[in-house]
Amino acid sequence: MSSIDSQRRVLSGMRPTGRLHLGHLYGVIHNWVQLQHDYECFLFVADWHALTTHYEHPEIIEDNIWDMVIDWLAAGVSPSAATLFLQSRVPEHAELHLLLSMITPLGWLERVPTYKDMQENLKDKDLATYGFLGYPLLQSADILIYRAGFVPVGADQVAHVELTREVARRFNHLYGRSPDFEDAAKAAIAKMGKKVAALYDELRRKYQEQGDAAALERARALLREQQNLTLGDRDRLFGYLEGSGKIILIEPQAKLTPAAKMSGLDGRKMSKSYDNVISLRDDTDTITKKIRTMPTDPARVRRSDPGSPARCPVWQLHEIFSTDTTREWVQQGCQSAGIGCLDCKKPLIDSIDAELSPIRDRARQYEQDLGQVKAIINTGSEKARDVARDTLHDVRQALGLNYR
Ligand code: TRP
Ligand code: SF4
Repeated sequence: MSSIDSQRRVLSGMRPTGRLHLGHLYGVIHNWVQLQHDYECFLFVADWHALTTHYEHPEIIEDNIWDMVIDWLAAGVSPSAATLFLQSRVPEHAELHLLLSMITPLGWLERVPTYKDMQENLKDKDLATYGFLGYPLLQSADILIYRAGFVPVGADQVAHVELTREVARRFNHLYGRSPDFEDAAKAAIAKMGKKVAALYDELRRKYQEQGDAAALERARALLREQQNLTLGDRDRLFGYLEGSGKIILIEPQAKLTPAAKMSGLDGRKMSKSYDNVISLRDDTDTITKKIRTMPTDPARVRRSDPGSPARCPVWQLHEIFSTDTTREWVQQGCQSAGIGCLDCKKPLIDSIDAELSPIRDRARQYEQDLGQVKAIINTGSEKARDVARDTLHDVRQALGLNYR
């Protein structure tokens, strides 16, 4: 394993919810499209996660998977830059989930805020299941099996990444020790030469005694620079820095998605469950109709009544999709009753349509060639599986389960 790659590796997933809308585009996909060029990205469809809440209707999952992947591709997620895969095609996730379940205290899962929240919100479903309680732990397995350093998620998912860190720490603590670990670490230090060894020791002490995070970073950088360390020694020294032992599972960090809260057609958060979305594949007529019928500032009853954009859902969209000049024109024209609401909506319709038009075209091409979409997922799943197998091999070894 290589601890170095983790800092360059990103993993993220989405439950298969079907066609995506503008909220997904700005909340998640734009971010992925950026990251795929700067990191080694593993992006996947969390179809087993869908089953935790939709176990009564698994038949909808398949269509939702392909619809979602088509929208990823159409919106610029690139199979040549990122590895795109399907969770259930990498069964190693399930094995790691099982093994982690052995060491995860029930209380950790019961305390995850989304557990009670979702049960409350989805009262029509019986979520008092073993699988639903384990949802965040399955997510931990998803992340840990790729030894990803970063997990781009929204604020609602930070608690899951936090759980993942705790589980990794516990795992490393329980299974990362071997009786000769300290001796082997000292021998590895000596191999780096006097000067480097002294610096390593000093930085390690600063981190362990004073919690100096900068020292930890410098020590890690120092290890990365050492050309003559074997991979095994390097991992050992990464582990020894933090005191525990060998690091088998990497603690990931949440990478908060720059919160672009897309407001929907009615001013509430854009969400399929509110029926207030503009979908990525909506055609020009649909977009036009949806925006033309949007509610506006309730105080603007007649065309001659001045309005205030701050109370208008249309303005929220202008804030995202319009240029400064247009926004000034809206502010001015609305407050002076110089423009009507339909005038105001026109440039918005145009800019949203212009943004979605190429996405819609690409989606149509993929729709007509589902074979290509499936081939992309096949290739990605094989690649993901190779990485997952490696991690699982180390995990089994650490547990002493590699007897066959
Ligand atoms: N729980 C995530 C969500 O609801 C989806 C998900 C599953 C995920 N596994 C993941 C996200 C691993 C990031 C990493 O959005
Ligand atoms: Fe809203 Fe524009 Fe009408 Fe003002 S002019 S109320 S911002 S739609």
